[in-house]
Amino acid sequence: MASSYVVLSLLMPVLVASLMVASASNFYNDFDITWGDGRAKILNNGELLTLGLDKASGSGFQSRNEYLFGKIDMQLKLVPGNSAGTVTAYYLSSKGSTWDEIDFEFLGNLSGDPYILHTNVFSQGKGNREQQFYLWFDPTADFHTYSILWNPQRIIFSVDGTPIREFKNLESIGVPFPKNQAMRIYSSLWNADDWATRGGLVKTDWSQAPFTAYYRNFNANACVLSNGVSSCGTNSSPSTSRTNSWLSEELDSTSQERLQWVRKNYMIYNYCTDAKRFPQGFPPECNLS
Ligand SMILES: *[C@@H]1O[C@H](CO)[C@@H](O)[C@H](O)[C@H]1NC(C)=O
Repeated sequence: MASSYVVLSLLMPVLVASLMVASASNFYNDFDITWGDGRAKILNNGELLTLGLDKASGSGFQSRNEYLFGKIDMQLKLVPGNSAGTVTAYYLSSKGSTWDEIDFEFLGNLSGDPYILHTNVFSQGKGNREQQFYLWFDPTADFHTYSILWNPQRIIFSVDGTPIREFKNLESIGVPFPKNQAMRIYSSLWNADDWATRGGLVKTDWSQAPFTAYYRNFNANACVLSNGVSSCGTNSSPSTSRTNSWLSEELDSTSQERLQWVRKNYMIYNYCTDAKRFPQGFPPECNLS
């Protein structure tokens, strides 16, 4: 009796740990590789996904689920060394001609020169809301967490928990906001040397191919839409319970300060300050902050 109790209590942490591993993200469950003819791979029992790019093709994957709002984290480690000309896109998108989209794109660079993190938001087929950033670390040296919080009030892009961009729901002043179309997660690694690095001046060095980007620790606190029904309840007013408090999450004052720190020190392009783009005047959301 006593000894079997000892054995059990010794085993308990092991059992708990293995349950946790079992429920950890598994790329086999959540994603499908959609193109690239073997250049994308799921490895380590589903814990790691890699995308490959060579002269003949890039590769990509997409989520099995469609989400209507969520807080979605993914860890990425980007193409190291001379990644000039390559683009790693990681985004949410719906379908159709009036699609919604929330974008992270990582534009590669020569060894030692900084990646650009490009962001954009499309509502009903219209984008033109680019903001670009340098990062405060080398995104090829290790995995970092890139997150999208998408709830009915706002979209927040974060890097390692630091918000870099907030796109608010300003429908009240006529800015369309993505909130009616479910989106899938997509990612791809492809060649964009006609524009990506220094505006297309630096070409992809194919002698460095194949290029590889790495993904792990996907986590989604999200409302999954299946057959028109949201796992969070009514689509238009999903219920906010303790388990999905992200549905009403906003930036607290510390996060606001972090966001301002990023904007001041790392933002390199903002559509809201690019007067050439908008000869007829800036989009309404630009006149607020
Ligand atoms: C690449 O490095 C150059 C030089 O530092 C920089 O101007 C550029 O913004 C970097 N990123 C891209 C994607 O071109």
